[in-house]
Amino acid sequence: MNDKTLNKPSSTTGMSRVDGRLKVTGQAKYAAEFNVKGLTYGVLVCSTITKGSIRSIDSKQAENAPGVLAVISHLNCPKILGYPAEPAKAPIKIFYDDKILYNGHPVTMVIADTFERAQHAASLVKVDYNEEKHITSLKDNLNGAVAPHDDAEYKRGDPNAWATAPVKVEQEYIQPSEVHNPMELHAIVARWDADDKITVWDKTQGVKDTQSNIARIFGIPVENVQVHSKFVGGAFGGALQVWQHEVAAIIGAKVVKRPVKLMLTRADMFTSVGYRPLTWQKIGIGATTDGKLVGINHQAIGQTSTYEDFAEGPADVSRQLYDCPNAYTSNKILSLDVGSPTWMRGPGPATGTFALESAMDELSYLLNIDPIELRLKNYAETDPESGKPFSGKNLKDAYKMGAESIGWHNRQQKPGALTKDGWLLGYGVSGGTFGADREPATVKAIMLADGTLIVQTAVSDIGPGTGTMAVSVAAETMGIPVEKIRFDLGDSALPNAPQQGGSTITSSVGSAVYMACNALKEKFQQLIGNGGADKPDYAQVLKQHNLPKLEVSVDSKAGAEVDKYAMYSWSVHFVTVLVNPLTGVVKLDKVTCVADSGRIISPKTARSQIIGGAIMGIGMALTEETVIDHRYGKVMNASFADYHVPVNADIPQIEALFVNKPDYNINPLGAKGMGEIALIGMAAAVANAVYNATGKRVRELPITPDKLVDWGVVS
Ligand code: MOS
Repeated sequence: MNDKTLNKPSSTTGMSRVDGRLKVTGQAKYAAEFNVKGLTYGVLVCSTITKGSIRSIDSKQAENAPGVLAVISHLNCPKILGYPAEPAKAPIKIFYDDKILYNGHPVTMVIADTFERAQHAASLVKVDYNEEKHITSLKDNLNGAVAPHDDAEYKRGDPNAWATAPVKVEQEYIQPSEVHNPMELHAIVARWDADDKITVWDKTQGVKDTQSNIARIFGIPVENVQVHSKFVGGAFGGALQVWQHEVAAIIGAKVVKRPVKLMLTRADMFTSVGYRPLTWQKIGIGATTDGKLVGINHQAIGQTSTYEDFAEGPADVSRQLYDCPNAYTSNKILSLDVGSPTWMRGPGPATGTFALESAMDELSYLLNIDPIELRLKNYAETDPESGKPFSGKNLKDAYKMGAESIGWHNRQQKPGALTKDGWLLGYGVSGGTFGADREPATVKAIMLADGTLIVQTAVSDIGPGTGTMAVSVAAETMGIPVEKIRFDLGDSALPNAPQQGGSTITSSVGSAVYMACNALKEKFQQLIGNGGADKPDYAQVLKQHNLPKLEVSVDSKAGAEVDKYAMYSWSVHFVTVLVNPLTGVVKLDKVTCVADSGRIISPKTARSQIIGGAIMGIGMALTEETVIDHRYGKVMNASFADYHVPVNADIPQIEALFVNKPDYNINPLGAKGMGEIALIGMAAAVANAVYNATGKRVRELPITPDKLVDWGVVS
């Protein structure tokens, strides 16, 4: 991010991305592009069975193939100091024992002097297995679900009050498993600089977290691990943890005494690095005849692996989205012979709102009340779960803005009443919400003699525009042009920052940048003494005082406000869909997303963030589904040809609107997250619009044409 790459702010849209030019011209280097001296290449061989153990590995041919430096498996893997200390339920310990826990479990790694030679040799490794019977189907085994922890259940009032209400809905909803599939594949370049010193160039959402995890696994001091991750080509939660391929590359580099590069294939991305868990949900919801909610009962069962208890809590959203005296939520998990799921954009409420906001829509038709009116009737002015006031909630503004933008007044309550060019036209709405947290963050701000400001913190920028946000905050606070600012990130040697996850970064790091810049300004004022200009010429002041630079480091974190307020960001998604009455094909006609996420710091990147999340939500609604053939326990559509992520042709005009009211109860910037709320609720909005268009309610995503045609859309 040098001066030449910066774009000027525009008064209407805000700054362009500080790293945009580097990215589109290919100058931004991603993990797999660091071709360090002496580099070698690792290729994984993964299990072709789903459950059992390795009987034998014949690697002779591979070892003798040209350019091969090592073939590593549990048979010859060096001792990994951190492994024995891991708890019983923990991420896969690669090359640790002969156990096969899922289809695609890494078994061996071939390292060679070129990628092609490694790939060829990997094809020569022969593995024999003792196969055991596997179970991979959630739907067939719901009875085996268990509570993952003590607060998996929540009760307010009477859990079954909904069932005695005059008007009620009771339905089941299925969210299939989805994969993150960012454009950049998971990749790492690992190098040992000494017996107890590691450097990695890695795809990660948190360099500090990756640093401490690598140190723990390999039993070396944290400061001896150096993690570089300056550019990340998307992650969506998929790079919040150290995965087994990262450990494999580091092991490999130790064995061959040379740096190792390991990049997953697109197929690996479907099995080895987490996914949104397939989840069954059941909702019972009851209301009075005039639409006041009496009770909600929301139960969820999500799949997990046999080796980790991953639970994302999809039912929790029913505790707090609406004002309702009686509520019961339960989040259970079911262990299957599959790889572990993990956090994926909007974890919990993305799945939970599909059920709750679909059920609310079903209720609105039973009551014959406009879906927005039903939501406003049950609007929570204070947090129904904690009883605390919200730090900021302007959801009513969001409903109003969105309804105007989509033309909600044209909607017909009766399904199937509208057509456009021979297609059925329907309107849908759904709300979204996600907790607004603020994590500890440290920022260093350095003013150099030439008037350049350097702002430093160890955050990653996986795509939302964190760098742009930070430079924007610094420019505004210091009163200097963006061209004079350099933001350093994505390096574990920098001051502490949280992982880029959970929509926390603008609130956490943005606030820390703001506070550091204010502290730096104060330091300048102390130098100048009384009567200094409000916006001094920083370079001039440094020159006058004969100083090469002036710097501050500021630690920041949430305070007492977390006990006082319930803190959330909010969104509303409005869509119109077109459904072909002959084929059941669903096309989005128009999309409007409204975010109530406090003050908008960087309008241009905020808009992109909302549009990206909306598109991901449309994929969730209409096309995305990981399919396992349970006879083999294998993912059958592990490619972009068979797993359909929306492309430009699938996406109409998307309006991204912002309430843009600061929430100063949460941090001094007044800004809250929007990464998750961009997606959360979108799937229900689409499903609700499909119902409005056709009178057909699809409760199992994705809404593929077969689900509409089978149910007799054809007129
Ligand atoms: Mo995320 S699931 O906030 O990376």
